Amino acid sequence: MKTIVETPETQQHNPETQSRGEFLRSLGMSSAALMAYYCLGTSVSSCKSSDPAPATPTPTTTDGISGTTTGNSINFTVDLTVAANAGLKAAGGSLKVGDVFIANAKSGYVAVARLCTHANQDGLTFRAASDDIACTVHGSVFKTTGAVDKGPAGTALKSYTVTTSNNGNTLTVKA
Ligand code: FES
Repeated sequence: MKTIVETPETQQHNPETQSRGEFLRSLGMSSAALMAYYCLGTSVSSCKSSDPAPATPTPTTTDGISGTTTGNSINFTVDLTVAANAGLKAAGGSLKVGDVFIANAKSGYVAVARLCTHANQDGLTFRAASDDIACTVHGSVFKTTGAVDKGPAGTALKSYTVTTSNNGNTLTVKA
């Protein structure tokens, strides 16, 4: 029977006494190369990168905004005479303010939660032609009320109350 004498050198190259990572490291592989090796040889679920940001996010504004725009106590006003917000006055216009997405829909101004309920991505865009809200990340579609029209999202967007001042220049958005 052959006897193997363990020395630091034989231990270094004996897979039975080393973890896979130690063995690969002994071959001079970098951490990045090791990760690529593991990802190829195992389920990719733990290796996938996070979802990308949408390609054309609607601009976010802080100009002419007053009040609480994030969290559970949304209550703010939007001055539509400020240039950054003026686009919302046009039919089909939209604006992102804090955690809220506002659109000028056929029924008037509507406001819903800014992040898509599918994967919490900032991909909502208002589609004037179909009078709905689409997510550019995976294709979910919501009604202007926030209800799901098409998945993969399975949960409605939270909707907010929008009131317009008598002169039409100020919106108030409330939870
Ligand atoms: S994050 Fe919107 S559809 Fe997936």
